[in-house]
Amino acid sequence: MKIRDFKLERYFAKYEFHTRHLLSSSDCDGLSLSSLLDMAGDEERRLWNDLKLGYTESQGLPTLRQAIADQYTSIDPDHVLVLSPGEANFCLMNVLLEKNDHVVCMSPAYQSLYQVAESIGCKVDFWRPDPATWQFSTETLRSLIQPETKLLIINFPHNPTGFIPTVKELNEIAEIASTHRLTIFSDEMYHHLVHDPSMRIASMSDLYDRAVSLWGMAKSFGLAGLRLGWLVSRNKKVIDDVMSYKDYLTICNNSMSEVLSLIAIRNSEKLIDSNLQKIRSNIGAFTAFKDRHPDLISFPKPKAGSTLFAKLNIGEPALAYCERLVQQAGIMLLPSEMFDFGDQHVRIGLGREKLQEGINAWDDFIARSRR
Ligand SMILES: Cc1ncc(COP(=O)(O)O)c(C=O)c1O
Repeated sequence: MKIRDFKLERYFAKYEFHTRHLLSSSDCDGLSLSSLLDMAGDEERRLWNDLKLGYTESQGLPTLRQAIADQYTSIDPDHVLVLSPGEANFCLMNVLLEKNDHVVCMSPAYQSLYQVAESIGCKVDFWRPDPATWQFSTETLRSLIQPETKLLIINFPHNPTGFIPTVKELNEIAEIASTHRLTIFSDEMYHHLVHDPSMRIASMSDLYDRAVSLWGMAKSFGLAGLRLGWLVSRNKKVIDDVMSYKDYLTICNNSMSEVLSLIAIRNSEKLIDSNLQKIRSNIGAFTAFKDRHPDLISFPKPKAGSTLFAKLNIGEPALAYCERLVQQAGIMLLPSEMFDFGDQHVRIGLGREKLQEGINAWDDFIARSRR
């Protein structure tokens, strides 16, 4: 299968490790190995100290699958498959889809969510939000479903807009899928990063038996370097089929990442709370920046996740502005061209401690440009 470049990942590869101020990362700051190990209980510490660096079980470490299943209300360890998130997406699409299938996917979206389906030869229609509020309307979703629609791809909390549906809206989405007998692929990589905890929503896999949900270590937990995530579904056949497909890729997981993920999951509330505190404070800092520059930038306040999606009012494409900013001021933003979503927006990442330093540098750049 031939596939287009993953634009966002190519853009990050170009700048992420050579730029001083990262203002667009979607992950939360990476925790140090020693801080994570400090959280280990006796059982996890024993697993870590006695770890053999051989092959691991292809479905994932049983204790880890149990700890993952405990995060859901209707998932057994058998319904869990541990693998890298990108791999999960790639395998799942290949297992579920065939050429000419009709798929509905949110847009803007992390490119792999629609790109793999397009490369398989599917017809993808996009569910787009109201640009003034980033609200995704269930009415619009209904209008996109066709008799031949097979798969609905959603991502809540949403990267990049920070949108999250209400419980009522989420149930409505499940009901729409159920009426049309659709499978839902629910990318929940930012699960529980909900700024007002009373607005938390359930995993789609707990609501709908034809859903497959993805979550992982990178965003909610701030452990992107573990490269680990998981699919859960009450549809055991899908889990088994993805597991077979995965034999052509990684086969099984990195044993160290599995034990470290177990420690993280058993401390999930602590890790998520600390990331949420940082995100809330960064929203305040970035809102103050917006208020200082109302002619430059505007955005609806995000409700969830670790990103916001802002409109630039600058009379030039976002990519051109971002290139100038990165070259001249060492500030990395992510232009909406990387989401195949026009050229007027940028993504801002809210999960990093040093956001304020980057904002200060951007203030200076604006002041210099005016002189
Ligand atoms: C919506 C979404 N899904 C999946 C991923 C992939 O996660 P990971 O970096 O852990 O592979 C990302 C990463 O940015 C994402 O934003």
